[in-house]
Amino acid sequence: MNTVVIREGKALIHIPDPSHAIQGDRFEPAWLPVFYNPIMVFNRDLSILVLDSYTRLHAPHKPIKAIDALSGTGVRAVRLALEVNGLEYIHANDIDPRAVRLIESNSMLNNVGDRVKIHQMDANRLLNTIRTEYHEPILYVDIDPFGSPAPFAREALYTTGHHGLAAFTATDLGVLEGSKSRPARRKYWVEIRKTPESKEVGLRVLLGFLARTAASLDKSIRPLLSYYADHYYRVYLLLERGSKKADAMLESMIGYATYCREVKRTFLGQISCPRGERGVVIGPLWKGPLADSGFLERLRGSLPRFEYLETFDRITKLMDMLVSETNVCTDCIHYRIDYVASAVSTSMPPRERLIEDLVALGYRASRTHFSPLGIRTNAPYSIVSYLIRKYSK
Ligand SMILES: C[S@@+](CC[C@H](N)C(=O)[O-])C[C@H]1O[C@@H](n2cnc3c(N)ncnc32)[C@H](O)[C@@H]1O
Repeated sequence: MNTVVIREGKALIHIPDPSHAIQGDRFEPAWLPVFYNPIMVFNRDLSILVLDSYTRLHAPHKPIKAIDALSGTGVRAVRLALEVNGLEYIHANDIDPRAVRLIESNSMLNNVGDRVKIHQMDANRLLNTIRTEYHEPILYVDIDPFGSPAPFAREALYTTGHHGLAAFTATDLGVLEGSKSRPARRKYWVEIRKTPESKEVGLRVLLGFLARTAASLDKSIRPLLSYYADHYYRVYLLLERGSKKADAMLESMIGYATYCREVKRTFLGQISCPRGERGVVIGPLWKGPLADSGFLERLRGSLPRFEYLETFDRITKLMDMLVSETNVCTDCIHYRIDYVASAVSTSMPPRERLIEDLVALGYRASRTHFSPLGIRTNAPYSIVSYLIRKYSK
């Protein structure tokens, strides 16, 4: 395999020659002999930031042991070993022998060979083996698959230790957002359809599935950070053992949403639709906070240490947005104001003015990272639709 060396974060990384993945104007990372997607630098940069804050907060006195179960070139494992203080070692794994050869050369190139333990096996088998045979408490597990993380969720959640962090990427957005109801039923055990706020509904479906899988293992989850970007979702979950906490989580955080076609709006909960129609019930899904506000503030506070990251500006913007969204409400779905406007037969309202007017009325309101056409507010539908109608007059 021809390779080139690139720099990502503090690491130098051998990746397959990108010309293998170009056809005409199109670059498709999946065509590379070993997968490497430059767009995912943002995802990997953020994992450095998150793990740094997590190790300072939850494991300040004991260096943590981690698993990167689907490593590809090993870029994430090598970077975590290089850039996160407090990481004792990380298991890097891929089922593909060509990937494993790249992980080996990348850990040598960056002098982290003693802290990156390399395996070539099925990810579930690796997780199971480490849990049942190594007897080492694992406090960070990263699942970054092609498509859905569902096949790896149970072993990953099982293997992540008490107060450990499990991170999942999902790129099967069509399924999670409700465009493909059969795979959604199969993979995530939900009834779902596409709605205007599908980007957020999909993230809540993913979290709901992971929470229910954790509960089946007598564990509970708390999302420290979860977000949508580019073509994927990413979630970081703090895990706790204990059946009582798992029961409490299921009771308070898992529920349903209702999509009301006539007003083009999805409401959290099983509600009566504003115009009296019978709503479409979606779920089960996560109805709790998408992030932990204290942890978000910590991440934001740590940013000055990470100015070297290539995606620093984008991370800063996302952090600011998530902090303001979390301050607005943690158990509401954002409004797609273009859809609300169309349901009241008017045109797209001025977004900033709508936010200002809601705040003037005593509600909380902000933009949302889910959509440039969305706002998050704790104001009820009647107020939002009233204001939107008023602008057209
Ligand atoms: C999306 S890529 C990983 C990208 C990598 N984490 C990164 O940040 O560049 C998914 C990887 O999973 C590997 N893979 C697929 N199925 C697997 C399995 N069952 N067990 C282990 N690895 C697997 C593929 O060979 C591929 O390298």
